[in-house]
Formats: sequence, C-alpha cells, structure tokens
Amino acid sequence: MRHTITLLPGDGIGPEVTNATVRLVEATGVSVKWDTQLAGMAAVEAGKGTLPDETLESIRRHRIALKGPITTPVGKGFRSVNVGLRKSLDLYASVRPVKTMPGVHTRHDNVDLVVFRENTEGLYAGREHEVVPGVVEALKIITRHASARLAKYAFEYARWTGRRRITVCHKAGIMKLSDGLFLDACHVVAKDYPYIRMDDMTIDRVAMELVLDPTRFDVLVMENLYGDILSDLCAGLVGGLGVVPGANIGEHGAVFEAVHGSAPDIAGKNKANPTALMLSAAMMLRHIGERVAARRMEVAIERVLSAGQVRTGDLGGKASTTEYTDAVIAALPAAEEVHA
Ligand code: NAI
Repeated sequence: MRHTITLLPGDGIGPEVTNATVRLVEATGVSVKWDTQLAGMAAVEAGKGTLPDETLESIRRHRIALKGPITTPVGKGFRSVNVGLRKSLDLYASVRPVKTMPGVHTRHDNVDLVVFRENTEGLYAGREHEVVPGVVEALKIITRHASARLAKYAFEYARWTGRRRITVCHKAGIMKLSDGLFLDACHVVAKDYPYIRMDDMTIDRVAMELVLDPTRFDVLVMENLYGDILSDLCAGLVGGLGVVPGANIGEHGAVFEAVHGSAPDIAGKNKANPTALMLSAAMMLRHIGERVAARRMEVAIERVLSAGQVRTGDLGGKASTTEYTDAVIAALPAAEEVHA
C-alpha cells in the first residue's frame, strides 16, 4: 500500500534530519509519497506567515505528517508553529516514549516508559490578565472532556503495546478542583480497562522517583504544564533531546516530530543527530500499520549505537549526519529478523 504523508522539513537542522529520515524510511521499502510543505522561517520567507493554510490542508487531507524542528521567529506577530499546529488540528495528546538506547550511557539502564501529556488546555490555554498593576492572574482550564480523551488514548495505547500500569501525575491535594477533575476523569476511564492497573502520584514525588529510579514507571499521564516539564526531564534520563521521539495525536490527524529544536548553532554543517526524528518516523510507521518496517528501523539504530563506532558529535562521536545515516541504512535487518 502506498502512503501519502505530509513532510515539513522545518528550519535549521530540520532539512538535514528530515532528509536523513526520509532516506531511512525509503530504504525499508515502504512506499511513501511525500507531500512537502512549508512551515516556519521557510514559509515566512515565501511571504506566507509561519503556518500556511495549504500546509494545514495537506495534513488534514493525509492525516499524517512528519515534521522537522521549526524556529519560532522572535518578535510580535509570529505565532508559534507548534502551538498553531496543535490548536488547528486539535492534537490533544503528546506521546513521548522514553527508552534507554543501547550504547548511550546514562545514569540508569533499562528505562522504558511513555509520557502522555494533555496538549490543549491547563495553564497553556494562555488565559492571563493583569488584575491591577502588580497582580496577574492566570487561568488553569481543565475539562472532563479533554482529560478523559487523553486518558482513553493512554489506556488504548497501553492495551495495544502490552503495558500494564498507568500512573496519573497530579497535585489534586492542592488544586482540588482542577487536578481533582483530571484525576477523576482518569479514574472513570480506568474502569473500562480492568486488566491495566492505574495508580496516581503527586507530580513532585514522580519527579523525585524518576530521578532515583525511572524503571519503576511504565506509563505516565498528566496535564499540560507538568507534561511539558517532566517529558524533558525524562528525555534527559536516556541521553537527551537528540535521541527521543515524539508524536502529537488528534482524532483527525497526527504529527510526528523529534522533540529537539532547530539547533541554529550546528545548522547546515552536516553534524546533526537524526536519531530522534528517525525514531519518530518509526512511531509514525507503526501508527499507519507498517510495524515491521518500524521495528527494522529501530533495530538498525540500536545496532549502530551499540557498536559505538559511528555516532554524531552530540553523542561523543565524529560522524557526520550523512555518515551516520549511511551506517543505519546499512544495519537494517531483514524483515524475518525482527519481531514487530
Ligand atoms: P535546540 O534543541 O535547537 O538546541 C539545544 C542544543 O542541543 C543546541 O546546542 C543544539 O546544537 C543541540 N541539539 C539539538 N538537537 C540536536 C540534534 N538533533 N543533534 C545534535 N545536537 C542537537 O533548542 P534551542 O536552542 O532552545 O531552540 C532553537 C530553536 O528551535 C528556537 O527557535 C526554538 O523556538 C526552536 N524549537 C523548535 C521546536 C520544535 O519545532 N519542535 C522544539 C524546541 C525548540
């Protein structure tokens, strides 16, 4: 089957890491027609603002996008592309799998957890105002609808991936109404999944336990601000932003992207590590049913990183983006060698 996927190369190192990732996807033999669209600085330079309508229409039409990092221009009048994409496409669930990569040495081994972050509300609804000079009020919006659909997605994900424990992270003892509603919505959804254990923990304790022993956790579910902070903490547990994939999922579309930015300091130098976007593309292939190709890509990356001879500068190596990509493509296992 041929898939049509919107491709947003993005800014800075974006075109380098998307080019590397497209090469790897194509090397698996999966048939993809890429519909390349503009966003970010490239779109601004073409006089179309940061997020052109045709880019959104392409994602709505194909329902799947692979996105490179995008620079948000500093200054008034520029809307963040990431926020714009999430709002326009109602991408309500941010999914970040956090897994120890062989050969990437960190404080803890065998980390394997997934962070689900509510993407549309909480304090990020952006409702702030100055009550009187010197006093500012920010509204934290929590709805049962948004909390329950995130919880449902996390439980479904756990069901399909064989995960058996979901920890809801909150501060319901202090924010009794808002976090209380989030927690209650999760409890209600959990009743439909008696074979998955749900527990809950305050967000501050989760932060401490993650640093002490992240292997205790399986799936973490939380509202927007907590998720923003903890998902980067979790990325740090397994080697940083260069190796962690991500997805933003909605009912009518999904955007897969690395969590790092456009890295202007190394842009155009063929130095960027494309691993995070390659792993995001593996998530994307799994999402569209190409499980074998997804697993082959992950195994190839694991092989190259554990051999340790070809790695990019951020992981202590000297390889260029191109050399690393060549090595990953050369390490692709045959379909019969993997369990998808
Ligand atoms: P950044 O993630 O671009 O860079 C932080 C540091 O990590 C830099 O030293 C960079 O060289 C390094 N780095 C990042 N990704 C790397 C990779 N794949 N390989 C090797 N080294 C890598 O974060 P920063 O500097 O805060 O943001 C730069 C721009 O990116 C800003 O305009 C920001 O708005 C944008 N950004 C976009 C995101 C997105 O599109 N999802 C996410 C985060 C930032």
